[in-house]
Amino acid sequence: MRAPPRVALARLPTPLQPLDRLSAELGGPRIWVKRDDLTESGACGNKIRKLEFVIAEALAQGCDTLVTCGGLQSNHCRATALLGARLGLAVELVLRGAPSPDPDGNLFLDLLAGATVHTFAASRYQRELPALLDACAQAVRVRGGKPYVIPTGASDGIGVWGYLQASEELAADLRAVGIHPRHVIVATGSGGTQAGLTAGLHLHAPQTLVHGVAVCDDAAWFRDKVRADLLHWKQRYGSSLDLDALRIDTLDAYVGPGYGHADEATHQTIRRVARVEGLLLDPVYTGKAFHGMLEELGAGRLAEADDIVFVHTGGMFGMFAQRAGLLGTGHATATATSGPSQR
Ligand SMILES: Cc1ncc(COP(=O)(O)O)c(C=O)c1O
Repeated sequence: MRAPPRVALARLPTPLQPLDRLSAELGGPRIWVKRDDLTESGACGNKIRKLEFVIAEALAQGCDTLVTCGGLQSNHCRATALLGARLGLAVELVLRGAPSPDPDGNLFLDLLAGATVHTFAASRYQRELPALLDACAQAVRVRGGKPYVIPTGASDGIGVWGYLQASEELAADLRAVGIHPRHVIVATGSGGTQAGLTAGLHLHAPQTLVHGVAVCDDAAWFRDKVRADLLHWKQRYGSSLDLDALRIDTLDAYVGPGYGHADEATHQTIRRVARVEGLLLDPVYTGKAFHGMLEELGAGRLAEADDIVFVHTGGMFGMFAQRAGLLGTGHATATATSGPSQR
């Protein structure tokens, strides 16, 4: 089946990198990281792969404004804001949460990139999201613009292409380094990345099993969402893939205190990976997923092969809005001393 048009925006292929110091410390399988945190600079992470296809569709429809939604610290909204700026498209963001007098992290970058931000209290956002998006799109039309509404996380049958193609890329990486991992781990939030990887690796590396680590909701929700995105994709593009043949697996024991909040054990994993590997994980997505992977490995549940792959989906800017707790107690800060000035 031929893929639909795509705007090439991401730096691809991303590296597949072994974490040898951490793997040696843990004494289990060799952990590899697919570095999708390196897909771009500001627009880094997993969303750019999906947005390449979704924005191509918006352009094909002659749209000049991207309308989308998410939490105040949404990585998807930040990527959309920056990519819209890069392509000369206006961006309108419908965000969940109270406006901040001192915007940080992703929200700071949304504003820096010139996106128009509309914030709504969480309860209203949850109740009225479709109507809020419609109203935003309608206001664009009234001003003479042509909006394209992107669903949460760009997770739909069009966005699925991003990780279907990433799966092909990952399968080529696995062949190039000569490994046959049984398990591939990824953070899952709106389900589209998990959907693309589950279907794509079923086709391109059938020995692997994709485990989404939920950062919200539960396994039943993700089973339905992943199936819905893949069904939309199947119907839209006429694929003969048998969805019943797919194993949609979600680990939902690592959500912790709730979406956007991580516990101290996850903070410890984030610190450990930063200190042993110099690799940044965020407290909302990748930190929880990586922590879940280490817990599963520790319990002997993912140890059927010599190698395991973690798909790093980015999200590092979210870390800055959540500094509290990330350094833990007892961290050392150097105090400035008098001496020669630094140039
Ligand atoms: C950094 C990061 N990792 C993982 C995810 C999960 O991807 P998806 O929304 O496709 O489930 C997201 C977005 O939700 C994200 O921003």
